[in-house]
Amino acid sequence: MTKTLQAKIDEAVAFIQEAGVAKVEVGLILGSGLGELGDEVEQATAIPYDNIPNFPVSTVEGHKGQLVYGTLGGKKVLAMQGRFHYYEGYSLETVTFPVRVMKALGVETVIVTNAAGGLNETFEPGELMLITDHINFTGVNPLIGPNDASMGPRFTDMSEGYDRKYQQIVRDVAKKMDLNLKEGVYMGFTGPTYETPAEIRFARVIGADAVGMSTVPEVIVARHGGMKVIGISCITNLAAGMQATLNHEEVVETTQRVKESFKGLVKNILAEI
Ligand code: 6GU
Repeated sequence: MTKTLQAKIDEAVAFIQEAGVAKVEVGLILGSGLGELGDEVEQATAIPYDNIPNFPVSTVEGHKGQLVYGTLGGKKVLAMQGRFHYYEGYSLETVTFPVRVMKALGVETVIVTNAAGGLNETFEPGELMLITDHINFTGVNPLIGPNDASMGPRFTDMSEGYDRKYQQIVRDVAKKMDLNLKEGVYMGFTGPTYETPAEIRFARVIGADAVGMSTVPEVIVARHGGMKVIGISCITNLAAGMQATLNHEEVVETTQRVKESFKGLVKNILAEI
């Protein structure tokens, strides 16, 4: 007998609660190189992904692969140190499974973060971008398949994928910190190749400001479940055709360089929401 998605969620939730996770106010998905924020969680309980029923094991270097529960910015958070990507070969059901689990644990707000390439000519590597909207250019959607109406509607409204009120709070927080926060549209590709220069010219024409290989599936599933979303990109490099070559080492180097302002921003956001 193959288990239903709901049965898999229930098993994971029971295990996570057994491990000591009680109330959770905010879910945090920490992108490439940004996992260190999880180390700042107070009264922390860490749960390795490979212990959790139905959780896959993350394969990307630089990711710890665990949930961290505790207090951050005065809020009860459950942070993912490392996420799952479609390019790793996981199904989108698997990629978005932790978001379903967060919802089942009572999470109402998710902060999704990532490393992204900048297209907007006013962006520089090392800057942070508030995601105001996204373009799903992956050619797939995590909601394809039978819809479980107890989890959300068949046709999910994406008019406000990234909560407008929270966007304003993020802008206000950044201003108070004197942080030069950029904002724009995140365009999701599957990866694992970086884009070609021609794809980047296309992306710019259709309104993208940054490109990446994650986030879109998780945000779609969060909205399906009625959760509110805040999205923050770390612009780690410029996109293809705008700088000589691209590589993952530069992505990690840039996240290391800006981690203090990234961590400060997210903590201050948590304190204000
Ligand atoms: Cl330029 N493209 C994609 N798809 N993901 C990235 C990136 C670029 N830079 C960091 N992550």
